[in-house]
Amino acid sequence: MNDLLTGKVAIVTGGASGIGLAAVQRFVAEGARVVIADVAQEAGEIAAASLGEMAEFQRTDVTDEASIQAAVDTAVASFGQLDVMFNNAGSTGDRSAVTEIGPAGFDKTFVLDVRSVVLGHKCAARRFKEQGTGGSIISTVSVAGLQGGWSSVSYTTAKHAVVGTIRHAAKELAPFGIRCNGVAPGVIMTPLLAKAFDVPPARADQLVKHLVARLGGKQAMGRYGSVEDVANAAAFLASDLSAYVSGTVIPVDGGISSYTLSTSDEEIYAAAQEFVRSLT
Ligand SMILES: NC(=O)c1ccc[n+]([C@@H]2O[C@H](COP(=O)([O-])OP(=O)(O)OC[C@H]3O[C@@H](n4cnc5c(N)ncnc54)[C@H](O)[C@@H]3O)[C@@H](O)[C@H]2O)c1
Repeated sequence: MNDLLTGKVAIVTGGASGIGLAAVQRFVAEGARVVIADVAQEAGEIAAASLGEMAEFQRTDVTDEASIQAAVDTAVASFGQLDVMFNNAGSTGDRSAVTEIGPAGFDKTFVLDVRSVVLGHKCAARRFKEQGTGGSIISTVSVAGLQGGWSSVSYTTAKHAVVGTIRHAAKELAPFGIRCNGVAPGVIMTPLLAKAFDVPPARADQLVKHLVARLGGKQAMGRYGSVEDVANAAAFLASDLSAYVSGTVIPVDGGISSYTLSTSDEEIYAAAQEFVRSLT
């Protein structure tokens, strides 16, 4: 790769799987040393072991502030400093409709998808200020944080709130040389999708293959995004190449959040043909 992150130390929450794991691998390939901060102990340890001295696993539950702080402490104890915080852990949360959502499910979604990000900013920014070095904080949003209609009310509201956190923190932390940005993936095929549809983990790969075969071609670019596509954007935001970029969210979605998706011309044509056929 390009040594984009040589000398930097990063934490990636949710780094044991999917987008987070791809980011860990990309950051290390660019020369960073990385703490994989995840609740998934076995997967996290396997990922860290595969990267040798460049990575360490710290069991971290991002719903617990002390646990996030412990990940920061581990980065400093093991690698001497912290330069990049990637608040990536999250899940689709409570998928209830607006008419069904209850306070417990809503709160649970917010604790995992929003409060964790706010506290990730807090713990990292305190360390950056102490070091006097500045730093980069990146958070995983979603196209559901930029538009309505992609997901449930709790997830959509939560990811919009993450954008608010990024925008606010960018201003408050700018005087300390701390940049805050987000990446907003479109549909990326990761185990998260299996969880979202209650498909057993052992069948996750089959689900992904099925969805790619059925729907991949419907994306304007003719394919779904990959975890590497998202990791590449995160690497840019982690690096000094983005030194004057703050308070923004980069969609990594093949363009789908830039235009109206509702019904494609092809779908209208196919439906009209169906109707015409029914007349004969
Ligand atoms: N996959 C997509 O299509 C997609 C689209 C938009 C946004 N996202 C976002 O991307 C991020 C990563 O999702 P993914 O698709 O890679 O999912 P994933 O399920 O593959 O990975 C999520 C990781 O987060 C970890 N995690 C869950 N709860 C945690 C907690 N309390 N503390 C620490 N770690 C925890 C899991 O153990 C897992 O390793 C999430 O924030 C998600 O909302 C995903």
